[in-house]
Amino acid sequence: MTFHETKPTILVARQIFPEGIARLAEFAHVDYHDQALAMSAAELAHRLQGIDGALVTGSERVDSQALAHAQQLKIVSNIAVGYNNFDISALTQKAIMATNTPDVLTETTADMGFMLLMAAARRLAESEHWLRAGQWKNWSLDGMLGVDVHHSKIGIFGMGRIGQAIAKRARAFAMEVVYHNRTRLDPMLETEYQASYVSKEELLRTADHVVLVMPYTPENHHYIDTKELLMMKKTATLVNIARGGIVNDEALAIALENRTIFAAGLDVYEGEPKLNSKLLGVPNVVLAPHIGSATKSTRLAMMHLAIDNLIAGLSNQKPANLINPEVFSLRS
Ligand code: 8YV
Repeated sequence: MTFHETKPTILVARQIFPEGIARLAEFAHVDYHDQALAMSAAELAHRLQGIDGALVTGSERVDSQALAHAQQLKIVSNIAVGYNNFDISALTQKAIMATNTPDVLTETTADMGFMLLMAAARRLAESEHWLRAGQWKNWSLDGMLGVDVHHSKIGIFGMGRIGQAIAKRARAFAMEVVYHNRTRLDPMLETEYQASYVSKEELLRTADHVVLVMPYTPENHHYIDTKELLMMKKTATLVNIARGGIVNDEALAIALENRTIFAAGLDVYEGEPKLNSKLLGVPNVVLAPHIGSATKSTRLAMMHLAIDNLIAGLSNQKPANLINPEVFSLRS
């Protein structure tokens, strides 16, 4: 048998940087979906047939339908830290390893969260639209008044790696930091970030700026809905850099329209890339197209980490970012 014949076969489900394809081509036969658009669920299921490993992004849904004919598949590597696009139990049942890309995007995504917070609080998008529309005729003392970021209280839902990186930034702005999490942080970390653990309700009622950075699970679908929005201060802002679906976007658009909260900054949406049309009609929201990790160096680092995970999994080594480690024990 020649070396060529022993190469595994890999599906790259979405356009990636050329250096990624070059790396993979040295190691495997590559079926490359060289497109910016995601393939349909049916095509993904079809193309996973006869494949040993797959490199996917957050918008490819890998569930039992996608895996129906994937008899040979050993590993699916996500180019994303969030993996709500994976049905982990379906993957584990079929003894398929699943990996993600934590750490490399932490600081870049925290920058994005803080930027959205500041832009919402200081009405940056609204001001720019107003200026571009030629409405800036004179300066006025009460023009485009926002709310302060410095010395205010930030409330962080999800105090994992990115939440902690946001807390670090908040401390530099002399903000008081409160957080809510599934599990309370180690006291040493609470001291490091001078962050206090509070209930969901206390966070919503007292924070000046609420930031969502938690993973999306079936339990926290519409975690922020009308009831929660009504608990927030009228002067508060809400930032979502986590996942669409954690916030009820319709309820949020109504809260923004009725000014029951001051403003919002969003990077993620329910059903993206489509978004609730009401959100497009309200001025007090800053809208970004899911670009939290979008710097060249971070996206390259994510791609390379995902490739490292994929190659490790196909070389009988434990991938560094294995989500379902029990599968590795089964396979080795
Ligand atoms: C990705 C993200 O760019 O890593 C995540 O979880 O949300 C983003 O950084 C996106 O999911 C594409 O895979």
